[in-house]
Amino acid sequence: MKFDLSNKNALVTGGSSGIGKAIAETLKSQGANVYVIDLNEIESNTSQGINTIKTDITSLNNLKDVLKKVPDRIDLLINNAGVGLVGNIENTEEEDFDRLYKVNVKGVYNCIKTFIPNMKANGGAIINMASIVSHVAVNNRFAYTMTKGAVHAMTFSIAKDYIHEGIRCNSVSPARVHTPFVDEYLSKNYPGKEKEMFKNLSKTQPLGRMGKPEEIANLVLYLCSDEASFITGSDFSIDGGFVKLNGN
Ligand SMILES: NC(=O)c1ccc[n+]([C@@H]2O[C@H](COP(=O)([O-])OP(=O)(O)OC[C@H]3O[C@@H](n4cnc5c(N)ncnc54)[C@H](O)[C@@H]3O)[C@@H](O)[C@H]2O)c1
Repeated sequence: MKFDLSNKNALVTGGSSGIGKAIAETLKSQGANVYVIDLNEIESNTSQGINTIKTDITSLNNLKDVLKKVPDRIDLLINNAGVGLVGNIENTEEEDFDRLYKVNVKGVYNCIKTFIPNMKANGGAIINMASIVSHVAVNNRFAYTMTKGAVHAMTFSIAKDYIHEGIRCNSVSPARVHTPFVDEYLSKNYPGKEKEMFKNLSKTQPLGRMGKPEEIANLVLYLCSDEASFITGSDFSIDGGFVKLNGN
């Protein structure tokens, strides 16, 4: 079987919703032993044999406790947990800027710093969730863009430093994917106009729709697998043509 993850131990942050949930389920279906690290625990993960460790990834100390609850050998680390924010620099408040940094940037630092020692003996793969905003400007995403630029840059830095330890590190950059992240954005910013705005957001991908969490999960599965053994330090767009095809 291709993309076989039997006997692999995988950690997925933010695996209780949206893209992370699809990643956890996909890795599990390919035979991995999956641990989700999330603020919330959900029944559908538990019933599929996916372990959840309720933790806030913004605290390095919390993650040290997580280390005691996962296997000594970690093969796959998926840094997926993240939060969004709409606004240009003038209407981005300092506490929101700091909050986005703490989850999206420091959360990735905290997880890699905590778990990479457990990957070094046997090698493994790290996949970071970047975004189209790591590559192109999207209106009013100032703080979010700052964080996803950092995620992209951390990816090749880690890939370089750990190449001789057999650890590959790559990122994926989705355009809009239909998850609770998008639904919350619409209800908060466009109350009463959610359906209309959903259509507008769908059209911003040249393919004419948003991505599905499973589509992102399948790319992550490939990058985790031994079939992707020649790939490190790279970023993969998965965006319905958003970055390359939106010109006139
Ligand atoms: N949905 C999109 O359109 C889209 C596009 C590009 C990139 N992304 C990125 O994909 C990732 C997942 O997005 P999603 O749409 O599935 O989001 P989501 O809101 O559906 O799920 C995010 C999950 O992360 C968890 N989480 C948030 N903060 C946490 C913390 N401090 N500690 C532990 N867990 C925490 C939440 O509890 C939730 O389960 C994010 O990094 C996001 O930036 C999403």
